[in-house]
Amino acid sequence: MKSKHIIDLEDLTTDELTDIIKLANEIKSNPSDYSDVCRGKILATLFYEPSTRTQMSFKTAMLRLGGSVIGFDNPQNSSVSKGESLKDTITVVGGYTDIIAIRHPSEGTAKAASMYSEAPVINAGDGGHLHPTQTLTDVVTLYNEKGSLGNMTIGLCGDLKNGRTVHSLIKTMSHFKNNKFVLISTPELSVPQYIKDIMNTSDCTYTEVSSLAEAMPILDVLYMTRIQRERFSSEEEYEREKGVFVLDKKKLLYAKRDLKILHPLPRVDEIAEEVDYDSRAKYFVQTVYGMYARMALIKTMLDNFDRNEPVRVFDTHNVKCCNPNCITAREKYLPKIFREVGGDMLICKYCEGRNLI
Ligand code: CP
Repeated sequence: MKSKHIIDLEDLTTDELTDIIKLANEIKSNPSDYSDVCRGKILATLFYEPSTRTQMSFKTAMLRLGGSVIGFDNPQNSSVSKGESLKDTITVVGGYTDIIAIRHPSEGTAKAASMYSEAPVINAGDGGHLHPTQTLTDVVTLYNEKGSLGNMTIGLCGDLKNGRTVHSLIKTMSHFKNNKFVLISTPELSVPQYIKDIMNTSDCTYTEVSSLAEAMPILDVLYMTRIQRERFSSEEEYEREKGVFVLDKKKLLYAKRDLKILHPLPRVDEIAEEVDYDSRAKYFVQTVYGMYARMALIKTMLDNFDRNEPVRVFDTHNVKCCNPNCITAREKYLPKIFREVGGDMLICKYCEGRNLI
């Protein structure tokens, strides 16, 4: 395994990703063979933001592997409420446990946590940035439900701007041959430029459309997403966007018979309840694949990495990231680390925000 931490699914090679998908299926088929493989190991789940699926599937995954779990699902019940920094929390928890899953509303938090943790860190969602274990869930689902991860026309619908599950999924599916993306959103919620750049430099093509009904007949996969109230700066902005795209039985009349409908969940009103009874709806099955995907990931990471001293990181530039939701805006002591692109562009290594200099 090339990387100690999973901040982005790009931290896995395609071969490593394939091995984890196969292991998830193997565990699903023979759970008793894996019921003791993590005995004596401890997972910390540090959730600074609400979660049902990710938090509970991580916990269930570790318990089903014979390990134990500590953590919090509300930072107000921890010393974070007394003003403890991310660095100090992670330094302490990394010393107690063997592996950490962290979710946080600020972009780049998992990357920041990895810089101070003796234990391997998994990104369980960082603001509107990435959600790699949801993507792992999605690819295990697609591999099982479609039989491969290439040659598909994949519609992504809803909040493509703030939807971290969308960003992670496009990044990963761009590595597989002949995938086509159909991006279905309002202009205000279209995918960020850095995700378009990834598609532009891959073998995959994309189109942007504003009608779900129009896109429906060509799709092999439809990935619906929620308009995320918590990512909007004003209620008015949220009210303008919600309810624009709703999948119902009528729209499915024009869909392929073997379409697969995925959703990371939770849903609000973007999929009508009547769709749940259509055999093409896979979003609840997807949550079960997610538990096996996380079991496979935890086992693989623990087999490959023990706790070790984190390497100290220093400023690369004397520039502040311009993304107000970057973790560096909240945790001021973090080193300022950027990747240079061209003459006047710096990419923040935490949140991938673009900074002109
Ligand atoms: N898919 C997902 O991240 O769901 P939760 O927010 O419930 O964890």
